[in-house]
Amino acid sequence: MNLKYTRVLVKLSGEALAGSQGTGIAPDTVAEICAELGSVLAMGVHMALVIGGGNIFRGLSGAAQGMERSSADYMGMLATVLNALAVQDMLEKQGYPTRVLSAISMKEVCEPYIRRRALRHLSKGRVVICAGGTGNPYFTTDTTAALRGMELKCDCIIKATKVDGIYSKDPQKFPDAVKYQTISYDDALNLRLGVMDATAFALIRDNRVPLIVCRMLGGDIARVIKGEAVGTFVGEGNTRA
Ligand code: GTP
Repeated sequence: MNLKYTRVLVKLSGEALAGSQGTGIAPDTVAEICAELGSVLAMGVHMALVIGGGNIFRGLSGAAQGMERSSADYMGMLATVLNALAVQDMLEKQGYPTRVLSAISMKEVCEPYIRRRALRHLSKGRVVICAGGTGNPYFTTDTTAALRGMELKCDCIIKATKVDGIYSKDPQKFPDAVKYQTISYDDALNLRLGVMDATAFALIRDNRVPLIVCRMLGGDIARVIKGEAVGTFVGEGNTRA
C-alpha cells in the first residue's frame, strides 16, 4: 500500500476516553478508539501515542482552584499514565503489541521513557504510548506530542479530536464557522486559532513538523495516512506538502 506517512505520532485528548460519561475512562469508548487505531496499525504504520489526562485531572484547573501549579501538573501527568495503561490494555486485547514508556519513572508499572528504546519498539512494530507528559510541570500534553513526535522521527503529528479540523471559530457555537483545508503555521498563529498551546506550536513550527487535525473516529486517521485531504493540514505553506 502506498502510504503518505509511515511513522506518526497520534495525540488523543484524555476526554476522548471518557465517552458520554464526561469523566473517567469508558471501556466501550476506549475499545472503539483502539479499533480505529488498529485499522491504521494494520496498514503497517509505526505509531507513537500521546494521550492527555483531562478526563481524570486537569493541572491548569487545579492550579486555578488554588493548588500549587507544579503539584497540579504532576497530578495531571499521573492521570496520563492511567489513560496510557487503559489504552495499552485495550490495544493488546485487540492484538496490537504496545509498550508504555513514562517520563516519570515508575518501573513497577511501565518502562521509563528512553528515546532510543522507544525507537527500537517502534521499529519492531510496537505502539509506543508516551505517558507522564514531558515529566515537567508547566508543559501540556500537546507539547509532549510535539516533543515526542520530533525525537521519535515521526513524519507528522495527528491531533485526533471530536471536530473534523480547524475552523475559523468554534463550529459548535457559530454556524458560519469556516473549516480550513490547509493553513500555514504563521496564519494559524496570527489568527489565534488555538490549535495547540504556544509552546507546542512553536516547537512544530520551528522544526517544520506537519500537523494534521482530524476526527478521531470514522476512518479519518487512516485516510490521513493514505494522503487523502481530510481534516486540516498545518504546515509551512498553504498546501499539503
Ligand atoms: P526487546 O528489547 O526489543 O526485546 O523489547 P522488550 O520490551 O520485549 O524487552 P524487555 O525484555 O526489556 O521487556 C519485556 C517486557 O517487560 C515488556 O512487556 C516490557 O514492557 C516490560 N518492561 C521492560 N522494562 C520494564 C520496566 O522498567 N518496567 C516495567 N514495568 N516493565 C518493563
